[in-house]
Amino acid sequence: MKILVVGGGGREHAICKCISESKREIEMYAAPGNPGIGKLAQCVDIKADNVSALTEFAVSQSIDLVVVGPEVPLTMGIADMMQEKGIRVFGPNKKCARLEGSKSFTKKFLLKHNIPTAGYKEFTDKESLLEAVGIYGYPMVLKADGLAAGKGVIIAENEHDARIAIEEMMGEKKFGDAGNKVVVEEFLTGREASCLCFVDHNTIVPMASAQDYKRIFDGDKGPNTGGMGTYSPNVIFDEALEEKIKTKILIPTLEGFKKDGLDFQGVLFIGLMIKDGEPKVIEFNTRFGDPEAESILLRLDSDLAEIMEAVLDNRLREMEIKWNDDAVCCIVMASAGYPGSYTKGAEIKGLDSVDSDVCVFHAGTKLENGKTVTAGGRVLAVTARAKTLEEARCKALANVEKISFKGSQYRRDIGAR
Ligand code: AMP
Ligand code: GLY
Repeated sequence: MKILVVGGGGREHAICKCISESKREIEMYAAPGNPGIGKLAQCVDIKADNVSALTEFAVSQSIDLVVVGPEVPLTMGIADMMQEKGIRVFGPNKKCARLEGSKSFTKKFLLKHNIPTAGYKEFTDKESLLEAVGIYGYPMVLKADGLAAGKGVIIAENEHDARIAIEEMMGEKKFGDAGNKVVVEEFLTGREASCLCFVDHNTIVPMASAQDYKRIFDGDKGPNTGGMGTYSPNVIFDEALEEKIKTKILIPTLEGFKKDGLDFQGVLFIGLMIKDGEPKVIEFNTRFGDPEAESILLRLDSDLAEIMEAVLDNRLREMEIKWNDDAVCCIVMASAGYPGSYTKGAEIKGLDSVDSDVCVFHAGTKLENGKTVTAGGRVLAVTARAKTLEEARCKALANVEKISFKGSQYRRDIGAR
């Protein structure tokens, strides 16, 4: 079986590792991939957003299954384009990918189907937004409607900061067309959790739970990032919460998909805020999370390629998906300056000295004259599995400390109580 994984970050490295453990005979390609992925798959030099070149490649190589990692090609309609050519794609079509590509679309969906979420209003011109400054009090949550590489959410502490944010979003067009519409939401408090689900036309199956750490510094300080680390399972999950998520969120979501003609096939990532045991939806993403995938997939004992095929055949409900009881901790090592502008090209040392049972997923690396150097904001995702979370956390941290590059930054509190 020939599989093409689209993307080249830590998430795609984790997906490739998981697929490479399949019982089946698999020939794996990745576009563009990265040096870590290159040990498992043949890397093809096509960018993840070049959907026409990817389609041509998939057709010419008779790829049996395409797995799409990032959101951009999904919102561009890579699944629709490839399916037209007879290629099977794990990842939602363009219409369903709007659940990530437009915050306003998702808010309407959630409200229409009575799924708990923060109250909201949307604005398409700066003046009315300025008039509405502080409508829900402060902090004021402002979200660019479209995709903004995880940076389109601004949480303004006071009126002064809110006015600056509105000017940036709708005046200076900091997020380009993504900010043509702005969603303002009630500010939610509580604990965040990531609930990723496999979804086909009949079934929605939650994966093992995880928690992401979005801020750059320990103690949840500093600006938001794409995610500085995760652990699984999320300590706030218990049976009562799982049941609530199922009845109040998962079932109504699947019913909503059916009623609205959203033929979803792939991964739905539900960002949740949990307060007093009550879950509310913060956002939908239509793909695996990064760095959630790195932790969660290390706990998957079933065959990922088989699950993906079952999703595409709408027989997910027949699958028995098994997770191991271990704890996993993933710590991201990032470049100096990240999440602002960051340095590149620093030599990464110590990769050969990590424990053999620790996975070092490559996120932003490249090979230069035979050396592995930094090439992105998030560079590596060092991931350890153990019997307890504390052991996994210590193991991940000990191995992070064996790796070095100039200016590296990482959090020491991922998975700590
Ligand atoms: P989003 O891209 O919508 O997930 O937002 C990014 C991050 O902003 C979330 O992970 C939360 O930490 C925070 N956030 C988003 N919406 C809200 C909200 N309504 N209340 C509080 N925090 C929020
Ligand atoms: N870790 C959050 C995301 O993948 O969007």
